[in-house]
Amino acid sequence: MKKTQVKTASKASTRNLSPDAVTAAVIERMQSARSDRFKSVMASLVTHLHAFAKEVQLTEEEWAFAIDFLTKTGQTCSASRQEFILLSDTLGLSTLVTQMNHPSQGQETEQTVLGPFHRESTPIFPLGADIAQGIKGKPLFISGTVSDSRGRPIANARVDIWHADPQGEYDVQKPALGGAMQLRGVFNTDGEGRFHCWSIKPTSYPVPTDGPVGSLLKASKRHPMRPAHVHFMIEAKGFDRLITHVFEEGDRYIDSDAVFGVRDALIIPFKAHRSKLGPDGRILDRSHYRIHYDFHMRKPLSKPKRQNKASR
Ligand code: BEZ
Ligand code: FE
Repeated sequence: MKKTQVKTASKASTRNLSPDAVTAAVIERMQSARSDRFKSVMASLVTHLHAFAKEVQLTEEEWAFAIDFLTKTGQTCSASRQEFILLSDTLGLSTLVTQMNHPSQGQETEQTVLGPFHRESTPIFPLGADIAQGIKGKPLFISGTVSDSRGRPIANARVDIWHADPQGEYDVQKPALGGAMQLRGVFNTDGEGRFHCWSIKPTSYPVPTDGPVGSLLKASKRHPMRPAHVHFMIEAKGFDRLITHVFEEGDRYIDSDAVFGVRDALIIPFKAHRSKLGPDGRILDRSHYRIHYDFHMRKPLSKPKRQNKASR
């Protein structure tokens, strides 16, 4: 059998490494990687990981516990469950990455976390459609506009909307639905950048707590709640994709969101209207709520050119 030749020549030995020498040795081992970005990201990761272990004087039991926690996190993931994103969200990493890559800027609408419940291939509905599809709840009229940072309307923008039901659950969390979609829909803005639809009023809800992330929240004595919100993903030609939510003003969890996603500019009143007549002329059998938000899209920032793409 032919032996694989591995080049080892120019590198220092990995034998007899002290705690102080092992970090540099690992980094040196990666120096032949092709991508400079990959090398610098990995060197930083190894440096911080080792510094963390030293700082807390990590015991073998704690290290084994952490490995088991990450193993369970992976095992909890499925086609409809992403426990690693939830871990990132509850540790504030998702908000950190979102805010670094989409810093708040003037008129442009702030971004916030995507969360694990967005679904590709949500159907397109005509303006004014009801995405509650028969689910009982307080009727909610959702309207808005999409424009550029100077308020010029964007026609034919794609507005993807999704939210939880009045019990705080998303369709993907209900196996009985067999994959059917509820409380989500895509709309295209009209010639003046407007959209509207009907749904039902969402409520505050807990992030999933039956997996390892739930155990972590419990051990940290943290509640798992998110304030009531409606998610939006808006896409328009020539603009950055906007991923955001609007939050209900006055929600009791507005200042303690379990995933750190609330921004002042995204908090709006969910206004109660006694009338049984909707703003689009629809006759209801009860009073209703209304929300409205004017979204402002951002032009893509010109990114500094990197020499090599990070290897995957
Ligand atoms: C959500 O709002 O859908 C969500 C975001 C982060 C973690 C869990 C849920
Ligand atoms: Fe949500």
